[in-house]
Amino acid sequence: MSADQHEAPWWKKTTVYQIYPRSFLDTNGDGVGDLKGVLAKLDYLAELGVETLWLTPFFDSPQRDFGYDIRSYGQVAADHGTWADFDQLLSAVHERGMRLVLDMVLNHTSDEHPWFREALRRKDSKERGYYLFRRGRGEGGSAPPTNWRSMIGPRGWHYHAASDEWYFASFLPFQPDLNHRNPDVQKAVLAIVEGFLRKGVDGLRLDIFNAMFKDAGYKDNPPSLRPLPSEDNADGFFQRNLYTINHPDSVAFARTLRAHVDAVPGDPRFLVGEVFGPPSLLRSYCGETGDGLNLVFLFKTLRTEFSAQAFHSLLDEYEREFAAPLLPTWVLGNHDRARYIERVGNDPRRAKVLATLQLTARGVPFLYQGEEIGMTNLDLPIATALDPLAHFYRFVPPWLQRLLRRKGVMINRDECRTPMQWSAADNAGFSPPGTRPWLPVHPSYPWTNVAVQLTDPNSLLSHYRRLLKLRRKLPALHSGSLTLWHPTNLPEPVLGYQRRSGSELVDVLLNFSPRLVEVSLPEARQLLFSTHQESLLLDGNRLRLRPLECVILAPRGQGVGP
Ligand code: GLC
Ligand code: CA
Repeated sequence: MSADQHEAPWWKKTTVYQIYPRSFLDTNGDGVGDLKGVLAKLDYLAELGVETLWLTPFFDSPQRDFGYDIRSYGQVAADHGTWADFDQLLSAVHERGMRLVLDMVLNHTSDEHPWFREALRRKDSKERGYYLFRRGRGEGGSAPPTNWRSMIGPRGWHYHAASDEWYFASFLPFQPDLNHRNPDVQKAVLAIVEGFLRKGVDGLRLDIFNAMFKDAGYKDNPPSLRPLPSEDNADGFFQRNLYTINHPDSVAFARTLRAHVDAVPGDPRFLVGEVFGPPSLLRSYCGETGDGLNLVFLFKTLRTEFSAQAFHSLLDEYEREFAAPLLPTWVLGNHDRARYIERVGNDPRRAKVLATLQLTARGVPFLYQGEEIGMTNLDLPIATALDPLAHFYRFVPPWLQRLLRRKGVMINRDECRTPMQWSAADNAGFSPPGTRPWLPVHPSYPWTNVAVQLTDPNSLLSHYRRLLKLRRKLPALHSGSLTLWHPTNLPEPVLGYQRRSGSELVDVLLNFSPRLVEVSLPEARQLLFSTHQESLLLDGNRLRLRPLECVILAPRGQGVGP
């Protein structure tokens, strides 16, 4: 359990809101969201109550993977704006007392990056050594150098005929992996990181960080029986990713990077890694004493059944594996995953339960744009998908596509990237009227949108706003320790935990069922918050929780902060 973290650095108490700029707000009517759009909505975000904004990549890119294929960190993609727009945004964020975090894709570049072009052009160039080029095996080198697969299934090696060598890519073929064992690459990467921090950026999200280093000896991966990788086990496609994923050198690099980041003068910054594996392994990226990545995404929530028991064991596991000084993260979705509300039957009442958990458990919550209004996934045909991953899977038979989708594997990520729904106006207020947004607007926009929900005190958006406000106010919620209530003291569908900071304590009780349940409290409590607006059904030490009701309670007489 954590000690009192009253004086914890800002990043331990923060809440993060992920912005996918392409789909956030299009101010100039070209159908694509831009940095000016983010600027225009800063007051909305500040009033929502989120404290840190994470922008997915907006750098120069051929946009084949919508920004995760970077051609140059030195330029802003013309679609998204200019450096002047960025500088203006960064200062506007800081003026509001908020923080800005950027996405660093260090594992690979676009195949249009000048380094890769040079590497292809000249086998003896220094840039050739920036990537993982190798001669093939077998007769005339016609077989790939190793059996390594990409993260998405097929082999990761791609043949370059002109030089008769193969290059490796952990993700899509146009995203060649950098060779981080080359000191020049390390130097270049660290310089990019430092450049952004010196510009005043408050933290970095590290794309597929668990793929950074591969085996130096190019050993074959052993076979495995697992057909598909999952959130907590990166093995899959019948291969154990021993030599490609979660390599000890990637874990070690976390500490190198952290030391480098900490050495840059200014407020503390944070690094959050996109890594996959069981929590017990993921914590190693943070370092035993917290000297590695400040945070890692924990995606196990995405696979956790909607029940008090399932979340009780998840909390228990996170508390064990990420005990202070480490800190868990609470992720319900992002631009790669099906929107979480789908997992609870697109039911905003159930979404409120998960949002309550996400914002009141110990750890840093990461919200993905649109979650706060309950945007749902849009069913879109693979044949016309823009997502390169969907193209990749287009030959997968429909029954298998459906099976994968049911297992939570997002084949067409367009489905969770549709434009943000601001209002009932044309294009949901995302693009000016008469414009065609880059992805279709979800037809739910006339009733699922920000403007409508701002006027409804019972909306999901109002729920997020109220909760974020309370979280900021109460140290117990943003930096306290967490102790689970013992399930025997609670009705079966109720999850309970206590958060405590110094002498301040609050209890959080979540009713996962559509039934009215009764809880007996050890002592009388006052109500600080309920998902249900009306007065609480409290009777002495007994509390009745209505269907899917979540409450936050404090001892009678305890002040509720400034
Ligand atoms: C990460 C990103 C995803 C991207 C991939 C390759 O998983 O979140 O959007 O396609 O890495 O960079
Ligand atoms: Ca635009």
